Formats: sequence, C-alpha cells, structure tokens
Amino acid sequence: MSEPAPIRVGLIGSGFMGRSHAIAMRTAQAVFGLERPLVPTVLADVDAATAKHAGAALAIDRTTGDWRSLVDDAEIDLIDITTPNTLHEPMAMAAIGAGKPVYCEKPLAPDAATACRMALAAEAAGVPTFVGFNYLKNPLVQTARAMVESGEIGEVWGFRGIHAEDYMTDPAAPWTWRLDPRGGAGAVADLGSHIISLARHVVGPITDLSADLSTKIRERTTAAGERRPVQVDDEARALIRFAGGATGTLEASWLATGRKMYLAFELTGSKGSILLNMERMNELRLFVRGGVAGREGYVEIPAGPAHPDYAPFCPAPGHQLGFNEIKAIEVKAIALALAGGAAFQPDFREAAMIQATVDTILRSARERRWVAVDEVLPKGFVAG
Ligand SMILES: NC(=O)c1ccc[n+]([C@@H]2O[C@H](COP(=O)([O-])OP(=O)(O)OC[C@H]3O[C@@H](n4cnc5c(N)ncnc54)[C@H](O)[C@@H]3O)[C@@H](O)[C@H]2O)c1
Repeated sequence: MSEPAPIRVGLIGSGFMGRSHAIAMRTAQAVFGLERPLVPTVLADVDAATAKHAGAALAIDRTTGDWRSLVDDAEIDLIDITTPNTLHEPMAMAAIGAGKPVYCEKPLAPDAATACRMALAAEAAGVPTFVGFNYLKNPLVQTARAMVESGEIGEVWGFRGIHAEDYMTDPAAPWTWRLDPRGGAGAVADLGSHIISLARHVVGPITDLSADLSTKIRERTTAAGERRPVQVDDEARALIRFAGGATGTLEASWLATGRKMYLAFELTGSKGSILLNMERMNELRLFVRGGVAGREGYVEIPAGPAHPDYAPFCPAPGHQLGFNEIKAIEVKAIALALAGGAAFQPDFREAAMIQATVDTILRSARERRWVAVDEVLPKGFVAG
C-alpha cells in the first residue's frame, strides 16, 4: 500500500504571518506526527528577489514572484494566503477556480459582501476553506468553549470582549496597508475581528449591536514621505446581543497605550465566570459559585496536558505555549480536516459572518442606531 501523500502548500507572503505559517507547518508535523502533513513547497512573494530571500530563510527551495503560477502548479495541493487583506479575494478565488483548498489569513475580506461571495464560491466548488483565527485554537479557549457547552458555568449572561494593542499609538508610525480603506475597516477589522471570532466561537452568533468608532490620529506619512488622511477607525466600541440571550460589549483599539496583546474576554454565567487574556494566554481564571463565605474567589488554572492539544507539546503543566504553537495547532486541525477528520472552524462561511459583524459595527456607528447583523448580509446569504 502506498504512503499517504503530504499536502504540498503554495505559501503566498513571507511577512509576519507567512513566516508564522511556515514555522507552524514544520512544528505541527514534529509535534503531532501527522499522516498527511502540510509541507511548505513553493513560496510566492511580491517579486522574485523577495521570495528567494525569504525562501532561503524559511528553507523553501522553490520560490516565485508570481503567485498566479502556484494556482496551476500540479505540485501544489493547497493555497495559503498571508498577504494584505485586499489581495485575499483575488488569490482565494483563483485557487477555488482551480479546485484547490484555501488557507487564508484573517480578516477574510475588506467587507461582508466580498467575504460572502468567497464563501459561496468555495461551497459551490466543494473546496475546503480555513481561516487563520488562531486564538480559537488556544487550549484554554477550547476549554472555555467546552465549559460553556457542557453548562459548567450555567446560563451565559454576559460577555465583555476586547482586543487592544498599541502599535499605532506613535503618530510617526507610517501609513501602511492596514490604513488603506480599500482593505476595509481599521482596528475593528484588524483586531476586532479576533474578539468577534472568539465571541461567536465561545458564546454563539451576535444578532444586534450598537457601535461607536473614532479616529484619533487623522493623518500619517507614507514610506515615501507623503502625508495621507486616515480614513479608517483607530478605536471601536459596541454593545452587543447574542442569539442565545447573552448581552455584552466588544472593544477594539490599536491606540491602547501600554497594551501589547490585550485580547481578552470575561464570560459571566449563572453558575460561574471565566476570564481569559491572551497577554497571559496560558492562564484561565475560573470562578464557581457556591464556595464558603470568605473563601470565594477566582482560581487561576495554568494550561497543561489536561487541556486539548497541549500534551503533544509538553508533558508538564505551566510550561507555556506561545503564539506560533497555537498556529501549529491550527495547521494540525487543517491537516486532519483534509485527511477526512473533523470539520475545521472557522471556514469561509464563518469568517464571512465575522466580517458581517465588523460591517454591522461600521453601519451602526455611521447611522447612529442599533443594527441587526442580518441587515448587512447580501440577499440570499443565510446567517449562521
Ligand atoms: N492571525 C493573526 O493573528 C494575524 C496576525 C497578523 C496579521 N494577520 C493577517 O495576515 C495578513 C498579512 O499580515 P502580515 O502582518 O503578515 O503582513 P506583512 O506586511 O508582514 O506581510 C505581507 C506579505 O505579503 C507579501 N505581498 C504583498 N503583496 C503581494 C503580492 N502581490 N504577491 C505576493 N505577495 C505579496 C509581502 O511582500 C509580505 O511578504 C493580513 O491579512 C493580516 O490581517 C493575522
């Protein structure tokens, strides 16, 4: 009998995420011993020289300055997109057209209409899709979700979610693709999409919201020295309602002076509560009602082998997994899905619903009213 074939990946982009994906593919194979590992096989970047340079560092022998050549390459089984947001759609659509599975970074697209179009195209073509909302794969996020599902914290009443960082706080920070309005919203798309993905994953669909956006630094300078207006949000805040009855808040900011990776949520349930903060991604804080008076309080639970996906990295608790290891868990889940295992989430459909929630925040802030997420969905796209 022949050995199962590896999944040969055409990786597009070698920036922060391109490198993380390449590292994660190698780690996932070393840690999980996959039957069909993802193998970075060809690297495409903006031009041949950039691709070659990055390929040497990442030990990817074949490189190209033309991402389109990957789509028709018979030696490529999966297209992996780690480029700026405006490029996700053309790259994913080309891959779907060629019948190749797509692994794409978040946010899926600049707006919900585009994201829904991508989801429908993939479904029509029967192409599996995977989106890089990696924090959902954190063993403690998986644990929080399991605790909610099993009723361990009772009925979920409240969700307070935030993703705040400070990488745009310096007014001299240059104008980059993250500020290009053609790529969609600002902090609410770049960071807010992560906390929306967590809210939906752990609690369920968000149905309605009322939001406020603001832009504090109104002009930035490009690398070429040109002053450009900032047309996207620096900060977003929203009141939210979930389909299951829970209510709460969402916040996103890239001007949160002092915050480096404050992606956090507080889940309040009728029997207990959970706190998780990715700045300390290996600690889950749990409160369970019914303790002895004067001895009640949150307990801190360190990530360990009793939590999903931790043990293959390390046999001992408290030893700390990091960002790239969470990404490796994501890659493992993709490999298993492609080998016929459990369905992967988020796929393009779920990422389109996350994007619809981002668009709802924009519309609510613009129109200064509560808006239902259904209102921003294209006709015929059924909310999930
Ligand atoms: N999942 C996460 O936690 C996370 C974190 C950061 C970024 N992201 C997402 O990943 C994506 C990339 O972000 P990044 O921080 O890695 O950006 P980056 O700017 O560091 O890297 C982008 C890469 O794309 C390449 N590129 C640009 N145009 C190209 C083209 N036409 N053809 C081929 N390659 C091209 C660039 O040369 C670069 O290698 C974005 O969608 C971003 O939102 C996700």
